[in-house]
Amino acid sequence: MTGTFRGVVVVAAVGACALLAAQPPSITPVLAQSPPASLRVCGDPDNLPYSNERLEGFENRIAAVVAAELGATPVYAWWPHQRGLVRNTIDAGTCDVIFGVPEGLDFVLWTKPYYRSSYVMTWRNDRGYDFRSLDAPELQQLRIGVHVNTPPEESLARRGLLDNVSTYSLFFDPRGDRDRPRKLLDDLVAGTVDVAVAWGPLAGYAARTSDAPLELVPLADEPGVPLSFDISMGVAKGNEALKNRLEAAIDRRQAEILAILEEYGVPVVTSGGGSAAVPTGGGSGGAPAGGGTDAANPAAESAPPSAAAASAAPAKLNPFTGDADGAAEGRTLYFQVGCQGCHGGGGGGGMATSVIDDAWTFGSDDEVLFRLIKGEIPEQTMPTVYSVLEDEEVWKILAFIRSVYAGDPGRIDW
Ligand code: HEC
Repeated sequence: MTGTFRGVVVVAAVGACALLAAQPPSITPVLAQSPPASLRVCGDPDNLPYSNERLEGFENRIAAVVAAELGATPVYAWWPHQRGLVRNTIDAGTCDVIFGVPEGLDFVLWTKPYYRSSYVMTWRNDRGYDFRSLDAPELQQLRIGVHVNTPPEESLARRGLLDNVSTYSLFFDPRGDRDRPRKLLDDLVAGTVDVAVAWGPLAGYAARTSDAPLELVPLADEPGVPLSFDISMGVAKGNEALKNRLEAAIDRRQAEILAILEEYGVPVVTSGGGSAAVPTGGGSGGAPAGGGTDAANPAAESAPPSAAAASAAPAKLNPFTGDADGAAEGRTLYFQVGCQGCHGGGGGGGMATSVIDDAWTFGSDDEVLFRLIKGEIPEQTMPTVYSVLEDEEVWKILAFIRSVYAGDPGRIDW
């Protein structure tokens, strides 16, 4: 396994839903030219700064601008932007466009990006620090906060900083600690951590709305650890018509979109990731994200977007993804319980299908494969005897399978 950071990403990140779906029952492709009466947006009901039911988030504002450009009114279907998002929204037909999709979320067709942001390091500027990167030696002495399973957690691990790190949850879990992602920034303000490493929009919004002055430094991509991401809108696969209309709207309204991002303190970086500039004031100047140069963005194809990149990507399900020890134990289990009898020792297939290519029978994400190994998919022909495996064993085996994945990197959704 490489140290490549991947799992993070994920999937469901963003929300989804959409546009256009005007619902006149008689609409036909021929009529699709007429402006839709409504843009059906899959919105997250409670996830500022991105979106909420009171339409206070920046994605709500951007949706309004885009809908207006299409001559439509945004109509929301609410669903938390977490695991199962696409399945429960776009796929279920309740809405047509999800705003805030990190490029790479392969359950949807994504538009060209409308902005690009990055992870940032941030601290109270009354601390007097002057860091330019995570390599600052002083960090060895400081308390650092980061959301669990996000790319910068890997960056910190690579620098041997994990002993100083406190992790925070990226998703609100009503059954868990009920902490909001914002807690990381609140703790920074309170001094519980000295430095926070967070997704730019979240940190930028905290800087904008908190009493404490916060310094923000965007982080450059690192080999194998992308730290900046293009953010797009996602529509149902095959809905090219809507995608094209949205892209035209992005082109025409890019300046307004950037102005909204600026208002919320979102650090917008240039395509290519590296040393980005944070727009510190005054409109959208110096904020070239989005525009149209992104089609061939190297960062986007090299790795899946971070969970945080989306308004609310779920954290990766499998705690062992990317964990070399976990994958090694998984490999041992894979042989112990006989997976190789059907799928081959390297996973390339034999009596049964390959588990390392990018063709999947029931889907590629962790949830589906976990259920398959557990014998919970009614249509499966794969034996169900593995239901006796402990959850943790299944995750380790899956981590092994992920580590030998040989398909298209752009299709990684775990
Ligand atoms: C008796 C043969 C057999 C054994 C043993 C077996 N599988 Fe499978 N597996 C299948 C078949 C057949 C499929 C295709 C999906 C289906 O129809 O259920 C499959 C599908 C899969 C897939 C999804 C591949 C795809 O392309 O969608 C994964 C992952 C997988 N198996 C993992 C495992 C693991 C891990 C083990 C051991 C714990 C295992 N399999 C043991 C027969 C087997």
